[in-house]
Amino acid sequence: MKTHAIILLAALSLSCGSRREEIIFTPGAPWPDNNGVHINAHGGGILQRGDIYYWYGEHKVAGAAGNVAREGVRCYSSRDLLHWTDEGIVLPVVKGARHSPVLEEGCIIERPKVIYNSRTKKYVMWFHYEPANHRYDCSYSGVATADSPTGRFKLLHYGRQNAGCLPLNALPLHASRVYNPEKNYPGGSLPRHPDSLNLIARDFDGGQMARDMTLFLDDDGKAYHIYSSENNSTLHVSLLDDDYTNYSGTYARLFVNRFMEAPAMFKREGRYYLIMSGCTGWAPNAGRAAVADSIWGTWEELQNPFRGEDAGVSFRSQSTFVLPVQGEETRLVYMGDRWNPKDAIDGRYIWLPVTFEGKQPVIRWMDSWTLQ
Ligand code: GAL
Repeated sequence: MKTHAIILLAALSLSCGSRREEIIFTPGAPWPDNNGVHINAHGGGILQRGDIYYWYGEHKVAGAAGNVAREGVRCYSSRDLLHWTDEGIVLPVVKGARHSPVLEEGCIIERPKVIYNSRTKKYVMWFHYEPANHRYDCSYSGVATADSPTGRFKLLHYGRQNAGCLPLNALPLHASRVYNPEKNYPGGSLPRHPDSLNLIARDFDGGQMARDMTLFLDDDGKAYHIYSSENNSTLHVSLLDDDYTNYSGTYARLFVNRFMEAPAMFKREGRYYLIMSGCTGWAPNAGRAAVADSIWGTWEELQNPFRGEDAGVSFRSQSTFVLPVQGEETRLVYMGDRWNPKDAIDGRYIWLPVTFEGKQPVIRWMDSWTLQ
């Protein structure tokens, strides 16, 4: 069976004749950590600090039981993006806590992302949070901070977003605050969802929903939370406060009624990009991409970035993060999850280079590849 591998190449260097290591990624193969155990960091994201990368993701256990949180958020560290050291659970769920309804075993903690705040010197984690036994109904965001990248992270708060605030690009009907409950539908993956329902009005007082999410830290130190809202029908982008731990109240609606999920944002040549998926649960679908000159839009939707066989199902993956290797926007790595809801712990990781045809991001399948 193929695994992610390292091969030693004799470097034909006239000057030193030393050996050079080549890092080879093998998308979809089991990926052992320093203990030989398949990496357990699903729906993850990466934070680079100095020359160390930290990979945060959902720890999953075996079987369908692993589709909810049994342990919490796990972290790994690496200097070369191939060899990962298990740093353990950095945000644990509370086990057997009869009196604590917060982060209890069996809750849902998805798509954790961490950014560093150089002013407060805190590592700030945001994640999609659903208390146990509420399915995906609450649509909360959780926020936790730590003094070190390997935690432990302490939960600050969780809840809905932007209560009492209208989006920057509110329509007159949002300002009218008339929700049309008779037109309501229970959510799910319906591809058509009339904006006239006015879910912004429904959630105005209690706060807007947030499910699939990512964070984006811009060059100017401003940080954003990007998430599926309005019953997944519409993506929102929210500016965070200076501590990155709360909302600023400024947000916008993007891709109205397009049911975008799994957002991964990056910047290249001054433009903002999103790679996303459609909304079909654990089953893969065709990837989506978009570009904008400003994070607030106007966003231009591009073509499916995946090319070739299985492009219609994003090579059986769903986006979670795009990593600029060593911060270089010319070396971008797509990170996706190949979910396995019947045996959640065996979800695989699809990492592939992102190239460009003009403004269009392009991801091609490769059985193996190197950063060179
Ligand atoms: C996916 C989503 C995952 C998880 C899953 C549950 O669409 O991207 O993070 O929420 O649905 O069915």
